[in-house]
Amino acid sequence: MATPQKLINGLTELGIEKMQEYIDRYSDAVNKGDKSFSVALEELIEIEKKHRQVRRDAINLHIANYPFIKTLDDFDFDFQPNLNKKELLELNSLAFVENKENVVFFGSSGVGKTHLATAIGISCTKARYQTYFITFENLVTQLKKAHQENRLESRLKFFAKYKVLIIDEIGYMPIDQDTANIFFQLIAKRYEKNSTIITTNMPFSKWGEFFGSATLANALLDRLLHHSTIISIKGPSYRTKAIRTLLENDPAEE
Ligand SMILES: Nc1ncnc2c1ncn2[C@@H]1O[C@H](COP(=O)(O)OP(=O)(O)OP(=O)(O)O)[C@@H](O)[C@H]1O
Ligand SMILES: [Mg+2]
Repeated sequence: MATPQKLINGLTELGIEKMQEYIDRYSDAVNKGDKSFSVALEELIEIEKKHRQVRRDAINLHIANYPFIKTLDDFDFDFQPNLNKKELLELNSLAFVENKENVVFFGSSGVGKTHLATAIGISCTKARYQTYFITFENLVTQLKKAHQENRLESRLKFFAKYKVLIIDEIGYMPIDQDTANIFFQLIAKRYEKNSTIITTNMPFSKWGEFFGSATLANALLDRLLHHSTIISIKGPSYRTKAIRTLLENDPAEE
């Protein structure tokens, strides 16, 4: 029996979307005596709740600004045998967020730093931690602009409030001394209050040079590394894997 239009209209008005797709099936089951009314209603509510959760996750993932949606399941640990999978799974349990600890992904280009930082971030978002992904370049550009426009404090507060902030690609482009100082202010604000995940290809010994001051770099590293997990990835680039496979199987060589 078709569901009365009045009922459909009522559900639409209340913003109950998914239940509508299933209501015919469930009202038939109730009418035939296959399900009690209360069981049917419970199951319909469950369907609607799951649908809302999926929709909320999608919105939160969009807001979190990830460069791609990739998880630990998408990561080929066999390709990077030096990486401790157990350590990554432990991070993915998100205890580090509750403990306000940081995570540093270090390694050369293409080894999977952004992939892993994003994967952990996605888990944080799904667990409802307010998480934001941003490249170092974009972050400092925004902070510098705010400084020039006399609104640095509120911008620093804005980035300091995220439960988890992922700063990708520290050390890829040079910065001036003002920018280095401003970045330090952000890390100092976040220290022991919220978790920061960074990715970098720059050894810690080079941070003094990059940030234009050994003292500043030390103070920065102190705060970043005090309570932190450092994941150092030593291995080949996944980006050039396809090229290498092609070269290894080059028919012209035969
Ligand atoms: N072990 C892996 N398994 C599956 N995909 C991988 C693996 N390592 C890297 N990738 C993929 O290869 C690409 C490059 O990885 P990623 O962007 O994480 O590198 P990166 O270490 O951040 O490099 P860069 O320093 O240049 O930013 C991405 O598409 C990523 O998903
Ligand atoms: Mg990267």
